[in-house]
Amino acid sequence: MLNTLSKLKDSLEKRNTENVLRSLKHKKEGVDFYSNDYLGMAQNVPFQEIVLQEINQQPQLLKGATGSRLISGNSNFTMEVEAFIANKHMVESALLLPSAYLANLALLSAIPQRGDIVLMDECIHRSVRDGLRLSNAKSLKFKHNDLEHLEKLLKEANGNRFIAVESLYSMEGDFAPLEKLAVLAEKYNAALIVDEAHAFGVFGYGIVAQKNLHKKVFATIVTYGKALGMHGAAILGNQTMICYLVNFSSPVIYTTGSNDLHAMSIKKGYHFLENNSILNQNLQENISEFRKSNLPTLSDPQSPIQIVPMANVSSAKRAQQHLENKGFLTFAAVAPTVKEGEERLRICLHSFNSKEEIDQLTKIIKEFI
Ligand SMILES: Cc1ncc(COP(=O)(O)O)c(C=O)c1O
Repeated sequence: MLNTLSKLKDSLEKRNTENVLRSLKHKKEGVDFYSNDYLGMAQNVPFQEIVLQEINQQPQLLKGATGSRLISGNSNFTMEVEAFIANKHMVESALLLPSAYLANLALLSAIPQRGDIVLMDECIHRSVRDGLRLSNAKSLKFKHNDLEHLEKLLKEANGNRFIAVESLYSMEGDFAPLEKLAVLAEKYNAALIVDEAHAFGVFGYGIVAQKNLHKKVFATIVTYGKALGMHGAAILGNQTMICYLVNFSSPVIYTTGSNDLHAMSIKKGYHFLENNSILNQNLQENISEFRKSNLPTLSDPQSPIQIVPMANVSSAKRAQQHLENKGFLTFAAVAPTVKEGEERLRICLHSFNSKEEIDQLTKIIKEFI
């Protein structure tokens, strides 16, 4: 045991020396430019009242699931909500999971088989990579948003091909060329998997639905932990694929189901977003305000995630600390979250940020870089 602990200590010490040690910190006070609560739903009082009213009317929503969904933990209501979600996204079926991390694990660990190949964007989220670690399929990375590189790999690939991308990249703030990816997927008979964690809610039900690509995408993952301000996720796609997951995917089978409160809150969240498009308008205005600053960024002009490149780990960390001292909360993304040498400051814009806050933030960053 002493040996094991000393190995763990060595790894932590190495991280500490490299100035990239992670730790859980108390919640900070300051203006939020770092959370994924793009539309302020996590703190939206009228929405909370809607949920509370439902709980008061139907306290049985709070009942625990009591087991795996395949034993005692399923409910008619959750299945109704899944049908509601599938309908909203114009797909045959939806499967609810406790988070998008688990949704990606569930999908990628179970669907690609031995002999198959998964081509993933080099910037894809860790949950996709972790899912593939549990799979027998081979995986290769293609250069970020580089269709030529992807096509080369598709040509060389044997076996069933999969392409895995995010519609809006979480650490880049740029979009995948989804229409072109769908054309390539069709040309090479590849199954396209799109993680819409950061696009859902900010761009309607996500970019797949917005661009009418739902019939060309094999599986879409949406999370309810970001723009919807809650937690949970759904895998969307064809009925056979969902049925396969229910039969073969460990993260679906070997875990306790969620209670009906979760499904109800998600359903109310969809309705709330439909009736409150002002939140999206405010967000887009704030993104435009940020972009007026002309700070250097490769992020898309419409993205709620705006990335400002930093020279190295210490300048990224110093920028974050400097902003925090001035009352602005941002995130210094350093390795292993991003590649070494690609350190950056990640700014998340929200519907609730004020123009003054955004102007002050950009002024301070400009002084600093
Ligand atoms: C692209 C992407 N996929 C999946 C996830 C996981 O989402 P969740 O927080 O619902 O587990 C995240 C969150 O960090 C993400 O950025």
